[in-house]
Amino acid sequence: MTIPVLTIDGPSGAGKGTVSRAVAKKLGWHYLDSGSIYRSLAISAMDKHLDLNDVAAITQCAVQMHLLFECVDELVVILDGVDITHRLPTEETGATASKIAAYPEVRAVLLQKQKDFRQLPGLVADGRDMGTVVFADASAKVFLTASAKERANRRFKQLKEKGIDANLDKITSEIEVRDRRDSERKTAPLIPAEDAFYLDSSDLTIDEVIDQVITLAVM
Ligand code: DC
Repeated sequence: MTIPVLTIDGPSGAGKGTVSRAVAKKLGWHYLDSGSIYRSLAISAMDKHLDLNDVAAITQCAVQMHLLFECVDELVVILDGVDITHRLPTEETGATASKIAAYPEVRAVLLQKQKDFRQLPGLVADGRDMGTVVFADASAKVFLTASAKERANRRFKQLKEKGIDANLDKITSEIEVRDRRDSERKTAPLIPAEDAFYLDSSDLTIDEVIDQVITLAVM
C-alpha cells in the first residue's frame, strides 16, 4: 500500500511550517519539517567548529549525528542527546543550513532520514525539494510562496512580538540572499515540481491557505 504524502515546498518565511503543522493536525497525519534536519546539522557543524567549506567534514558530521524528533505539543529536537529546539529558529542557524544544504553529498546522506518519516496514515512534508526529489511520487504537492517583501514583514512582526530587536531592511536582504542560494544551487534547487499547485499567500490569511491546502490533500 502506498502511504499518502502531501508536500509543501517554498522559500523561507512563506508560512510552510504553520500551514503544514495545521494541515497535519487536521488530517491526523505525521509531519516532517525537513529544514530542521538541515538546521540540526548546521548546529552540529558549528559546535564542532568545522570549516563550512570542508564538504568531507560536513558530510561525515551528517553521517554521525544522531537526531531524535519528539512531538508533544510542539516539536522538540534532540541532537546527540541534547535538546537544541531553541537554537533551531535563529538566522545564523538558517543561513548556515542553507550553505551546507548546497552540498550534494550532504543531501544524499540526509535523504533516507527524511524518507523514514513516511508512515501510515500519511505524511505532510515541508521543505525545498519534498515534491521534486524526496517524495517525487507524492499524492499532492503544493508550492507555497509569498513576495519577499511580505515574507520579510511577517518575520519582522514575529520578532517584534517576541520582543527581539529587528531591522526590516536587514531581514529583507537576508531573505533575498537565502532565496538566491536555495534556488540557484545545482542539486535539488528550490523550484516548483511540475505537478505542484502554486499558491501565493501574499494576500491570503493563514486560515484561507490551510483550507485550500486541505482541499487539495483530500481531492
Ligand atoms: O525551511 P528552513 O528555513 O528551516 O530551512 C533552512 C535551510 O535548509 C534552507 O535555507 C535550505 C535548507 N533546506 C533544504 O535545502 N532542503 C529542504 N528540504 C529543507 C531545507
